Amino acid sequence: MAAPSAPPVPPVPPVPPVPPILPTLPTGRLRELLPLDLPIVQGPFGGGLSSVELTVAVSENGGLGSYGAHILTPDGITTLVARLKTATERPFAVNLWVPQEGEGATVGPAALAEHVARLRPYYEELGATAPTAAEVAARPGFDEQLDALVAAAPPVISLVMGLPPRRLVAEARRRGIVLIGTATTVAEAEALEASGVDAVVASGSDAGGHRGAFLRPVRESLVGTFSLVPQVVDAVGVPVVAAGGIADGRGITAALALGADAVQIGTGFLATRESGASPVHRTALATPEARTTVLTRLFSGRTARGIPNAFVHAMAAHEDTVPPYPVQNALMQPIRRAAGAQDRPEYVNLWAGQAAGLSRPGQGAAEYLSTLAADAGWGPKAPR
Ligand SMILES: Cc1cc2nc3c(=O)[nH]c(=O)nc-3n(C[C@H](O)[C@H](O)[C@H](O)COP(=O)(O)O)c2cc1C
Repeated sequence: MAAPSAPPVPPVPPVPPVPPILPTLPTGRLRELLPLDLPIVQGPFGGGLSSVELTVAVSENGGLGSYGAHILTPDGITTLVARLKTATERPFAVNLWVPQEGEGATVGPAALAEHVARLRPYYEELGATAPTAAEVAARPGFDEQLDALVAAAPPVISLVMGLPPRRLVAEARRRGIVLIGTATTVAEAEALEASGVDAVVASGSDAGGHRGAFLRPVRESLVGTFSLVPQVVDAVGVPVVAAGGIADGRGITAALALGADAVQIGTGFLATRESGASPVHRTALATPEARTTVLTRLFSGRTARGIPNAFVHAMAAHEDTVPPYPVQNALMQPIRRAAGAQDRPEYVNLWAGQAAGLSRPGQGAAEYLSTLAADAGWGPKAPR
C-alpha cells in the first residue's frame, strides 16, 4: 500500500524586515549645510548668559552650539572664536545683534537724570552704582564686531534683529562661513532669504529673550511658533530652523512635522549646568511663575520674554516710558549684575520662553541632548 502522501508544506511566510534599532534621523537640510549629527541648534544667549562650555558641549555631542557675542568687544570676539576653535573641531555658531534704526540716539542729561532717579531705590537696595553718562554711551560698534568676527571665521555666523550687511554676505561666501538670519514674521524671512542668508531661524513669539522683529514694531510681529513655522517653510527656499517653545522631543517632532529642517532650543539649554545663567535664574525656570512668562521692555529698553518678578510688577507703569535700548540696558546693567550676584531673583532679568516649565534645571547639556534625541525617536533613552 502506498504510504499516505505527506501533507503539503505550507509556504514559509515572508520574514518581515527587522525594524532598525535606531530610526533614521530626519535629513533636515540644515544638515546638508553643516555636518551635524542632530538637527538641533542650541540658541545663542546674549548678555553674558552664553558660555564656551555649553557651546562646546552641544557641538561635541552632535548639535550646533551657539554663543551670543553681542556685548563683546572686537578683541573679545577674536579671543572667543580662538577658544571655541581650540575646544572643538565640530561646527559652532557665533551670534551678533544687528543694530536697529534709531539705536545710536543719545539721551540728554536731564532725561538721563530722570531715568536714573526712577531706578535709584534699586541701586540703593542692591548697593549698586548708577552708570555715568559716558558709560551709558559706551558700546561696542557693530561694524568693528563684525570685522573681528569675519576675520576670526567661525564655521557659522548667526544674526538677529536685522538683515546681514551686503559685505558680510560676500565675505561669508568667500570664506565658507554659513550665515543664518532670524525672522519673526514671514516678511522678515523673505527679506532674509533675498539678502543671501543660507538658513533662516523662524522665531515664534513663544521664544525666550529679546524679540528680533526688524521690519515692523514688535507688537505687530508676535506670531506663535506653530503659526509662523509652516508659513515660513512655504515662503522661502532656504532651510528653516524652528525656534520658540520647543524644549522636548514632542516639540521637536511637531516642528519637523510643520516642515522645519531643524529646531533651535534656547530656554531648555539655558537650564543646563553649563549655561552662563545665574543659579537664581536657572532655579526660576522650574517654578510655577515660569509657566506664565511676559513680554517686557523694563530690563533693556527692548521687548523681551521672561518670568515676571517683583521688579516687573513694581515698574509696570513705566513699560512705555523707560528709554529705548541700549540706554535702559546700560542703566539696568548694575542692577541685574548685583541682583544675580546676591541671589535676588526679584530684580534679575529672568529671560525664559513659554515652554520653560518643560526644562530640567541642572541637567548637563550632553544628557539633555541625548534625552531630546531619544524622545524624538532617534536613539536609546537616556537615564532621567
Ligand atoms: C536668555 C536668552 C538670551 C538670548 N539671547 C539671544 C541672542 O543674543 N541672540 C539671538 O539670536 N537669540 C537669543 N535668544 C533666543 C534664543 O537663541 C532662542 O532662539 C530662543 O530662546 C528659542 O526659544 P525658547 O527659549 O522657547 O527655546 C536668547 C534667548 C534667551 C532665553
